[in-house]
Amino acid sequence: MAVERTLSIIKPDATRRNLTGKINAVFEDNGLRIVAQKRVQLSEAQAGAFYAVHKERPFYGELVSFMISGPVVLQVLEGENAVAKNREVMGATDPKKAEPQTIRAQFAESIEANSVHGSDSAENAANEIRFFFAETEILP
Ligand code: TYD
Repeated sequence: MAVERTLSIIKPDATRRNLTGKINAVFEDNGLRIVAQKRVQLSEAQAGAFYAVHKERPFYGELVSFMISGPVVLQVLEGENAVAKNREVMGATDPKKAEPQTIRAQFAESIEANSVHGSDSAENAANEIRFFFAETEILP
């Protein structure tokens, strides 16, 4: 297994409820190392560009509004198989369908306000990390 990096976002529903530390503990307990982290307010343009792949989906407008409704925590996670491992600990998109111990099952409010984002492939991870971080901000 290779050491990989993936992009994680702790979403506004979770920062609002002061859950950053609890979510980070799940990452760290599962062997994911937080090698970069910053709390930011996304602009509408940034959130829209980040989710551009969903532009034609009916939920796109609401999703962008939600993502700018409060601060988010942008993170780079590193570890063995980090992309798949993070998807596993996040759980299914819809918290009602997520496995019990996952972040979304424990903390998400709804399919939209689902507490975390995680890249879904190594290629997307590299692009998403580059979208938000300079290499000099990532400290293994
Ligand atoms: P998606 O990439 O399908 O899920 P994931 O975050 O698990 O990779 O969708 C991106 C985000 O879009 C998802 O986290 C929440 C939002 N979304 C909705 O608001 N409604 C929906 O029906 C879906 C499928 C996603």
